[in-house]
Amino acid sequence: MNDAKLTRQLETWFDANARDLPWRLAVRDPYHALVSELMLQQTQVSRVLKKYQPFIDRFPTVQSLARAPEDEVLAMWAGLGYYRRARMLHACAQAIVETHAGDVPECLQALQALPGIGRYTAGAIASMVFHQRAPIVDGNVTRVLLRLHNKPVPQTEKDTVKWAWQRATNLVEASNDPAVFNESVMELGATICTPKNIRCAQCPARSHCQAFKAGTTESIPLPKPRAKQKHMYCATVITTKAKVQGNSILLEQRPSTGMWANMYQAPTIERDDRAHTHNEVATHSGVEKETLEELGSFMHITTHRIVEFVVYRADSIRPTQNRAYRTLDSLDQVAISNAQRKAFAIAGIE
Ligand code: ADE
Repeated sequence: MNDAKLTRQLETWFDANARDLPWRLAVRDPYHALVSELMLQQTQVSRVLKKYQPFIDRFPTVQSLARAPEDEVLAMWAGLGYYRRARMLHACAQAIVETHAGDVPECLQALQALPGIGRYTAGAIASMVFHQRAPIVDGNVTRVLLRLHNKPVPQTEKDTVKWAWQRATNLVEASNDPAVFNESVMELGATICTPKNIRCAQCPARSHCQAFKAGTTESIPLPKPRAKQKHMYCATVITTKAKVQGNSILLEQRPSTGMWANMYQAPTIERDDRAHTHNEVATHSGVEKETLEELGSFMHITTHRIVEFVVYRADSIRPTQNRAYRTLDSLDQVAISNAQRKAFAIAGIE
């Protein structure tokens, strides 16, 4: 494979075909790149597009993010999932203010020393913002590289990941502009060299692609060994109240560790062995059993969990220190997971 020729072709293609995305500014802003790259990890561009600009409008600088209460950061992240990323981004902004006077560092090692910044994000910022010859490897890049070399292996295996980083290093060395080259491979993976419905006819790298030559693109990478999903059962009790300032819903804050840490929910109990009885739900929420009305149920499925939710309504619920009514109008500003929003929808709260 002629690396110089391949990288030139990808760069030319990217210059002409890159999607117009809000973080792709003519001159990249390091803070904007940090936010967008963290949002884009394990999350589709279409989802990120809804959340990116409001986040930047609310926290326009590293300093403003560093100063913000965690609740507000989580609220602006709500809907993107993997909330640990939001907490890490917050901690990262604070570390940048404390140890780098508010400037995102340029050097790969300094970037990687920041909370939440791994090899991928450090490489993305060093290359895309500061034009350094740092490689990046994510799922899209690995798939593209495996197909170019016709390697039918699962893309998460340790040896495969090591190989992909080595290959990405060689290619970025051969490239004209590391910023354009790195993003071109990600873009190719996102729009052409996709997991399914691959568009080889439009691929700028087709003449180099060993899998295309062998007719094996569809079967590369091999399927990942499936992560074992943990089964869980949640019961959520929705209590609303008409208040002077509008209708309200009773919410509590989750503990600061574990799943959906620090986020808000209608009073919810969870366990991992079986669904809850009505009695258990009533006792936990401080409600007369007779006044509990079962509204429906749904499954919330993520990479690591299958959570069965049963949704109840109750007229009133025992208040605790951790529970307070929030107006329905203000829910946009509260950190609420997609699973809880599904529960609210079952109770007619959108
Ligand atoms: N995925 C991760 N980083 C990306 C970027 N900069 N553009 C599009 N998709 C991405």
